[in-house]
Amino acid sequence: MKDLLQKLEKDALAAISRAESAAVLQDVRVSFLGKKGAVTEIMKGMRDLTPEERPAIGALVNSLKEVLEKAFTERGGALQQAAVAERLASEKLDITLPGRGSFTGSKHPVTLVTEEIVELFGGLGFSVEEGPEIEQDVYNFEALNIPKDHPARDMQDTFYVSDDVVLRTHTSPVQIRSMLKQKPPLRVIAPGTVYRRDSDLTHSPMFHQIEGFLVDRNVTFGDLKGILTHFLNNYFGKGLEVRFRPSFFPFTEPSAEVDIACVICSGKGCRVCSGTGWLEILGCGMIDPEVFKSVDYDAEQLSGFAFGMGLERIAMLKYGVSDLRLFFENDLRFLQQF
Ligand code: PHE
Repeated sequence: MKDLLQKLEKDALAAISRAESAAVLQDVRVSFLGKKGAVTEIMKGMRDLTPEERPAIGALVNSLKEVLEKAFTERGGALQQAAVAERLASEKLDITLPGRGSFTGSKHPVTLVTEEIVELFGGLGFSVEEGPEIEQDVYNFEALNIPKDHPARDMQDTFYVSDDVVLRTHTSPVQIRSMLKQKPPLRVIAPGTVYRRDSDLTHSPMFHQIEGFLVDRNVTFGDLKGILTHFLNNYFGKGLEVRFRPSFFPFTEPSAEVDIACVICSGKGCRVCSGTGWLEILGCGMIDPEVFKSVDYDAEQLSGFAFGMGLERIAMLKYGVSDLRLFFENDLRFLQQF
């Protein structure tokens, strides 16, 4: 009996250390300590022993059970640790790998240019105003001293919603709305979408403008020149040549168009500037007394200047974009570059 127990212990310990998984170990456990296991069978055999033999053998069986329990527990623990280690190794995250990054959109170049210009004029004390894109004829034309027979009102240029409602053809109506809403002095920068019945390589029926104007006492053409020169030098480069050419707008007097030395050829003459060395960049002038009259401002006491420019054109020059249509096609390959 004693030999049998010793052999059993050896066999069991060998089987336990051979078990390579929790499942196998459990099978081994059942085969030794289970209801029909080898150790249990031996305990059943105890009743055939003499009462004298029983205590000694009983003690041996108990200690065998203890040894085996301990061995099972240890092996089980070791197997579990190994399983955890294996899982950790196989599920390991390499945090040194470069990330995959998610797709982020970018701002449209016209938005970028708008924000930059608003910011620049913000630094000069101008604040943003906006007006509706569907505009009343009086604000878009009449109050801006554009009489009924003016060429700018020609059906060719203007989208009419009804007899006295149009899609605004410029951001200048914001001048009227702001002056009606606020008391002078006034410094406003007004970006927005405008519409004209014009569509070819260099014209889009929908495009963007930014309007700026200032009203106060003793505002001179010199102030206008100073502010615009400051703006253009800051925006396109220090030392950039700027010239003011006499021009005409019904709502400014005197009026001028502003050119900058071509940013492509620096004034030598190229395809972009049609060989002139100059690029027309904006329209401006001193606010016409007729405009002040239409908003009930005292033209004797007040003066002011206004300017307006096309934002697509600014963006083309700023970023070297040669085709206007790129701004409206929403081709991601183009837009992602900004
Ligand atoms: N509104 C004019 C245009 O669309 C530009 C302009 C604005 C000119 C303000 C002078 C003063 O062309």
